Amino acid sequence: MRLAVAGKGGAGKTTLSATLALLAARSGRPVVAVDADANPNLATALGVPPHAASLRPVPPSLVSRRRGGAGLLEPIDEVLDRYSASGPDGIRLLGMGGPAHADEGCLCAAHAVVSAVLEDLGGPERLVLVDMEASPEHLSRGTVRHVDAVLLVAEPYYRSLETVRRMSALVAELPVPSTSVVANKVRSPADRDAVEEYCGRHGLAFAGAVPWSDAVGLADRARVPVADGPGTGDVVAAVHDLAGTLGRLTGHRLLG
Ligand SMILES: Nc1ncnc2c1ncn2[C@@H]1O[C@H](COP(=O)(O)OP(=O)(O)OP(=O)(O)O)[C@@H](O)[C@H]1O
Ligand SMILES: [Mg+2]
Repeated sequence: MRLAVAGKGGAGKTTLSATLALLAARSGRPVVAVDADANPNLATALGVPPHAASLRPVPPSLVSRRRGGAGLLEPIDEVLDRYSASGPDGIRLLGMGGPAHADEGCLCAAHAVVSAVLEDLGGPERLVLVDMEASPEHLSRGTVRHVDAVLLVAEPYYRSLETVRRMSALVAELPVPSTSVVANKVRSPADRDAVEEYCGRHGLAFAGAVPWSDAVGLADRARVPVADGPGTGDVVAAVHDLAGTLGRLTGHRLLG
């Protein structure tokens, strides 16, 4: 199962990706966490210490351009062995190439690598979580065309919801079978209702809500994964429920 997590800047994509990854790994699933953000933060959110958090990207030379998109030239398991970093609980981490210098040009090659890697990471056993960057470029380029589902993270305010609506329209033009929306940073039943009502009005599947918690910010500053608290139990429980709902919406089990 390959799940891409998208949404407006700062909505909580990395926080929810890391928490889902840790819950799945601790439930016995093999997990590959793909940091598809050229400004990477997923390793840190998983609790990888700063000195080990910079990921070695899969080089573009391992990807061939072919009809219908980019393809990996080597078996995915070899690519994983060579380029993935070890995260907690057996999670394997892959990164996207980012800009090494200013004025360097576009990231076409890095997008092609992510696309090719995702194509070959399919299969029922492995859970692949793709933490996307805020820009809709992953969608306009079709970088995530091979995922099984996209989870759009929305904060309960209008511009965040509008972003999710625009992104879901782009996902609908890709061969991605399932798209759903999770509300994050929800402070009241009214917040949750607003997101659910917006989803209903725009034909978007609502997958649940994750509460606002001051403990999430404290965990971030302490460089502790949200899944490990302290004080984040309500958020972790909500992400656990989200995993169950996504399982039902997508037809793919997330937790072991
Ligand atoms: N449920 C929550 N309650 C409180 N704060 C939260 C919650 N979820 C995320 N945050 C905080 O929101 C900020 C942005 O979170 P995060 O980095 O996960 O967002 P993002 O969507 O990945 O951002 P970017 O677009 O920059 O990649 C962080 O400070 C994080 O700690
Ligand atoms: Mg992020």
